[in-house]
Amino acid sequence: MNDRSSFGSKFGIIAAVGGSVVGLGNIWRFPYIAGENGGGAFILIYFLISLTIAVPIMLSEFSIGRRAMCNARRAFPKVSPGTKWGFIGYLGIATAFTIISFYSVIAGWSMEFFFKAVANGFSEQTPEQITSEFNAFTSDGWAPLIWTLVFVLTTAFVVKAGIEKGIERYSKIFMPTLGLIIIGLGIHSLTLPGAGEGLDFLLTPDFSKVTAKTFIQALGQSFFSLSLGMGTMITYGSYIKKKENMFKVAGTVAVADIAVAIISGIMIFPAVFSFGISPTQGPELVFITLPSIFSMMPGGYIISVVFFFLLFLAAITSSISIFEVLVSYVSEEMRMSRRKAVLLTTLAISFTGTLCVFSLTPDSAIAIGGQNLFDLCNLVSSDYMLPIGGLFIVIFTGWSMKKQVLYNELTSDGRFGTKLFKAFYLLVRFVIPVIISILFLSILGFI
Ligand code: TRP
Repeated sequence: MNDRSSFGSKFGIIAAVGGSVVGLGNIWRFPYIAGENGGGAFILIYFLISLTIAVPIMLSEFSIGRRAMCNARRAFPKVSPGTKWGFIGYLGIATAFTIISFYSVIAGWSMEFFFKAVANGFSEQTPEQITSEFNAFTSDGWAPLIWTLVFVLTTAFVVKAGIEKGIERYSKIFMPTLGLIIIGLGIHSLTLPGAGEGLDFLLTPDFSKVTAKTFIQALGQSFFSLSLGMGTMITYGSYIKKKENMFKVAGTVAVADIAVAIISGIMIFPAVFSFGISPTQGPELVFITLPSIFSMMPGGYIISVVFFFLLFLAAITSSISIFEVLVSYVSEEMRMSRRKAVLLTTLAISFTGTLCVFSLTPDSAIAIGGQNLFDLCNLVSSDYMLPIGGLFIVIFTGWSMKKQVLYNELTSDGRFGTKLFKAFYLLVRFVIPVIISILFLSILGFI
């Protein structure tokens, strides 16, 4: 397909891929998962997993995508014709759906909180008041639904505009803005009274709490945060031109992703300790902790407005990438125009998003085995679907793709990273599949 769209510039690629990886995963999910898993030790494990497992998987996804030059479902049979690996693509489509359904709900919360911040709604509120208002809002059904739908439509608007004129153009504006805001907020947090205790929690490892589950959660978080295991990077890889250095792209965005996660932790944990909020609070951590600081500090008004805008930006550049996986699949496989594919995807996501919103209302029946659909999507996607998808992707790369084809694609025909190839190949063929399998066997109780 010679007329396939691609990213226009190096900075554009970094902005779009960076936009995908940096998202609610870093600012909303990382702090609470780190908090639930004891802080420092989890972060160390997360760091190691990101560099040794996640980055090679990102490179694998890029290679598959750029080689195939098509959507994430068709890519597998196209790269290895006549094999049975096509199911990985379907798993990816299912995962994309699962993630975007609850992701849009949280993104919707960030929009509600943005407007609340603009209306000065947090001033003079105690953490208890903020908590109860948050709970009342999220369990209301209709109000969060409106925001979820507004968010889905906004995402659809950007995706409809296409790769270079939509995704790349908006990411180039949004990402640097987000970087500046988050660094500013992080520095500010270091001046809070709880800063020492917060940093201590984040940076001092306590290995007594580490179990196999800690590793799985670190693995899932790393995949979620780096947008891996379901074909986002296959899809984006298909828009990367042959002359670009994919090692550089993967390295840069991985470092940026980890940095944003750590800065988010620095932003949140000092406040957690100064207000006596529990670090194991769960998904509402960011939505409760930060307004609590904002309500009391000088300049809190402007900072709260800026922060929730940041959260919205981070969310939209990521949801765009999940949406794009679905749209490229629908448009290429069902032979529809991009416009129609966006419409169909939007309708489907609006439906599943609505189910997630209403699963949070009191006594909702939208639950499976006692877990509401929202929590279930969040948990199952990161702890199971992404790592399983990632496992299949590395096995495919290491064992089904021809070595020479992989080498040529990954190194751009021997131009970049040729010395790293051997290590990469060893990791994807043996080390990573073995580690992920052991982790799964151990949480399933076989080891
Ligand atoms: N990485 C994004 C975040 O941190 C979310 C995301 C985008 C994602 N694309 C993905 C997660 C693909 C898993 C798979 O918020």
